[in-house]
Amino acid sequence: MTDGGPTLSQGARMSVLDAIRGRRSVAKMKPDPVPRDLIMKVLDAAVWTPNHRVTEPWQFFVLEGESKRRFAEIRRDFRRTLMPNPDAPEVQPALEKVYQSTLETPVIIAVTSHLADDPETREEDVWATFGAAYAFMLGAWSEGLGTYFRTGALRDDPRLRQLLRLPENRRVIGIVFAGYPAEVPQRRRTPAAEKTVWLE
Ligand SMILES: Cc1cc2nc3c(=O)[nH]c(=O)nc-3n(C[C@H](O)[C@H](O)[C@H](O)COP(=O)(O)O)c2cc1C
Repeated sequence: MTDGGPTLSQGARMSVLDAIRGRRSVAKMKPDPVPRDLIMKVLDAAVWTPNHRVTEPWQFFVLEGESKRRFAEIRRDFRRTLMPNPDAPEVQPALEKVYQSTLETPVIIAVTSHLADDPETREEDVWATFGAAYAFMLGAWSEGLGTYFRTGALRDDPRLRQLLRLPENRRVIGIVFAGYPAEVPQRRRTPAAEKTVWLE
């Protein structure tokens, strides 16, 4: 296993390789607001992600104000459904924490993909949309922002779909949480040599 790459140094120029190696999923973020212009700058780069037949399948929903509050409620209520005993007094603080921490996350972006009728296009569009989400995460990192990509069955929750007013042919592929990092975790990876086969 190897340690992660360089850690964030705000304001410094960062190579693509440094961004790829150094980016971490950041759970603890500062409450400082993130300018809309910065989010748009990074999204404007992310839409250059490759996508077959240039279908541009992504649509990003940035949740602010009442939408973020509602999302926090939906996320908390979804978490309740995963608990064996959701009404027990001892689990209430954990549920409240889900609500509060979501509300306090500076930026929440629901990343959605178009669902084409053709199964091959549908699959490739979802890959491409994750590519765009990852491009956003890397771009955000290079601009001093931390991100956390979250998935799970909440993606298909009807309340979330309703909040986003998603049509039938669009699906949430993940939710990106973003903000200035308060703490950057250390993680490890298996060296690529152990995951690579050279065939001659
Ligand atoms: C497709 C995908 C789905 C993920 N879903 C979740 C999730 O639902 N919950 C979570 O805590 N982390 C989720 N993550 C983040 C991973 O846990 C994280 O990338 C991993 O721990 C490695 O950490 P690093 O990103 O700092 O290298 C997801 C990442 C990817 C790529």
